[in-house]
Amino acid sequence: MSEAPHGAPIKTPGQLIAAVIAGFAVPIVIIILLAYYVDNTTRTGAGTEELSTQQVAARIAPVAQVNVRDANAPRVFKTGEQVYQAVCSACHASGTAGAPKFGNSGDWAPRIAQGYDTLWKTALSGKGAMPPRGGTSPDDYSDYEIGLAVAYMANHGGANFQDPPKPAPGAANAANAASGTAAAAPASGADANAAQAQSAAAAIAAIPQASSAPAAGGGEQSADASQAGKALYQQVCQACHAAGVLNAPKFGNKADWAPRLKDPMDTIYNYALHGKGTMPPKGGSNASDADVKAAVDYMVSAAK
Ligand code: HEC
Ligand code: HEC
Repeated sequence: MSEAPHGAPIKTPGQLIAAVIAGFAVPIVIIILLAYYVDNTTRTGAGTEELSTQQVAARIAPVAQVNVRDANAPRVFKTGEQVYQAVCSACHASGTAGAPKFGNSGDWAPRIAQGYDTLWKTALSGKGAMPPRGGTSPDDYSDYEIGLAVAYMANHGGANFQDPPKPAPGAANAANAASGTAAAAPASGADANAAQAQSAAAAIAAIPQASSAPAAGGGEQSADASQAGKALYQQVCQACHAAGVLNAPKFGNKADWAPRLKDPMDTIYNYALHGKGTMPPKGGSNASDADVKAAVDYMVSAAK
């Protein structure tokens, strides 16, 4: 065996010199590179970087968010223009599906001729390819807001309609108070009904002042009973029966009324006088029995 261990890599003086140089040079290069690395990299860690408030908020934000709507909070109504932009413009801006086009007085003139109340009702109940409320739920847009959108559109089509009357500010609270009775079922789940109940409660809330008028005007002289019936209908009953709030049979809608008209008139009068389901006795008014019956007659004759 020779002096060099078997398989040793260094066999010549040149290799030895190279190995010695490499033995010094490699660590030095590594040290230089490390020093370079330490100096030039930005170190990140707790406290070294300031997060903007938004970044912090974004990081600590909960994964899911719940929007709680306070039923008692006063409702902030959208304007007619806002409702139009958000909902109705989808069809009415370009005239999709034969919708009367926004700003086109030719399209709107025959519609406007029907009068504001009819248009409002139609917008709420739908017509042909026009979905009820433009396809929204009463929870998103109240009857009032839909009414504003109708006035906004019609007025841009050449009409000069007034905005509908703003619902009483206590309406939402009234709906809550009434939740023990009429709104009990909706409160437990069906939102659409809850909002309908809300508008009904608003209607009922408005009734006491309204009903004093026909009582004074036509109370004693019920000679013209049909006049009194029509007046009471307009002041009280139409709050629900015009648009079918709470599923009230709609005024003039034969299909809604036909099954009810199978009952004898006395039974129907009784329902109107003493209530039925969510229909409040006398529609929530304090009108005389005779006037309520006259209002029933008026509604029934319109549905025959
Ligand atoms: C999906 C499409 C669509 C949307 C959304 C829509 N409409 Fe319409 N609308 C129509 C069509 C179609 C007609 C024509 C219906 C007909 O005459 O048969 C119409 C007609 C109407 C009329 C006239 C009714 C009449 O008696 O002549 C009014 C008022 C109206 N829309 C209001 C609204 C309001 C307010 C909104 C938003 C809240 C809305 N529309 C959203 C399609 C739509
Ligand atoms: C708060 C909303 C509301 C008001 C206001 C209202 N109604 Fe009703 N009405 C209803 C509802 C809901 C029904 C359907 C009740 C049912 O079938 O359960 C109804 C049903 C009726 C019926 C049919 C009963 C039957 O099945 O034969 C008559 C008649 C009637 N109402 C008359 C009136 C008269 C008259 C007035 C005004 C003095 C009036 N209503 C006011 C909600 C209302």
